[in-house]
Amino acid sequence: MSAADRADDLSMNETPYPPLPVLREVVQDGAALLNRYPDRLSGALTAGLARHLDVDPGTIIVGPGSAGLLQLMVQAFGPKPEVVHAALSFEGYPLIARNAGATSVAVPMDGHRHDLSAMADAVTDRTRCVLVCNPNNPTGSVLHRDELTAFLERVPADVPVVIDEAYRHFVTDRGVPDAVDLHRSHPNVCVLRTFSKAYGLAALRVGYAVVPPGLAMAIRMMGIVFLTGSLGQAAALRALEPDVTAELERRCAAVVEARTKLAADLRGLGITVAPSETNFLWLPLGDKAAGFAEAAARAGILVAAMPDRGVRVTIGSDEANARFLDFVRSLDR
Ligand SMILES: Cc1ncc(COP(=O)(O)O)c(C=O)c1O
Repeated sequence: MSAADRADDLSMNETPYPPLPVLREVVQDGAALLNRYPDRLSGALTAGLARHLDVDPGTIIVGPGSAGLLQLMVQAFGPKPEVVHAALSFEGYPLIARNAGATSVAVPMDGHRHDLSAMADAVTDRTRCVLVCNPNNPTGSVLHRDELTAFLERVPADVPVVIDEAYRHFVTDRGVPDAVDLHRSHPNVCVLRTFSKAYGLAALRVGYAVVPPGLAMAIRMMGIVFLTGSLGQAAALRALEPDVTAELERRCAAVVEARTKLAADLRGLGITVAPSETNFLWLPLGDKAAGFAEAAARAGILVAAMPDRGVRVTIGSDEANARFLDFVRSLDR
């Protein structure tokens, strides 16, 4: 599919920007060594991430996208049978729990936010791990430092708590903690991050986790020998350099500006929009969600519908956002 064909795909939370030229170059150069197996420990990228985050390299695992890595983590955390997470949260969690032979304990939300108190109540001696999505997909909400710390105090120290920060780069709320800091004070905290969203490297499948050193080897041993390809490792390592970081920060700031504008415009049209700290908006349309998404598709705009709950709309290019707004204006409501 060409880039133009995908211009109005607002369903996948991808960046609207094309890959940075320096990262394309790294991938093109890497093609010269396609006959070679990748570094199975992602040594250079792991060392680069350790410097970037100021953590011990032994706590970092690089994996095949953060979803693929989470799958290995939940398998490695076994054998207890239950994985606690919020509902409505990332749709991959129940699937990952099931694939790892666990039962998913989906704890109802408090409005658009995780109900951390109910989640702590759901932790028992059957709990394999807890998954916390901050900011949350699909509702865009955030959890603050004090409430997360209070939650962590209630979870037994031998139960891993994975804080999934896939959308961290789009957060402007200063009350939201860096989960790596929480990992320093609470060793059972595992931080999950991705190069797919703000870094715009979704096709390369690179994610990483910061985990207790005692768990790192067990997680690595769960996977097939080669977790992440060479091109992904090289592009992700280059993406940590200051010139790329500066450009990505500019891009994220532009996405945040577009998010603020689109949310205000939609509210101006009478649409309820949940506060968002991500690169998408959550429209809690309830039983109108499916019909709305179908009408959007007929208008050439793809959005993600969660039937009977709402619709998630990725912040796209200015043109795509304007077309989405025109579509909403055209609706007979
Ligand atoms: C909250 C969350 N976590 C993880 C992922 C997985 O991303 P990836 O596997 O591309 O790193 C996604 C993708 O949409 C997500 O929304």
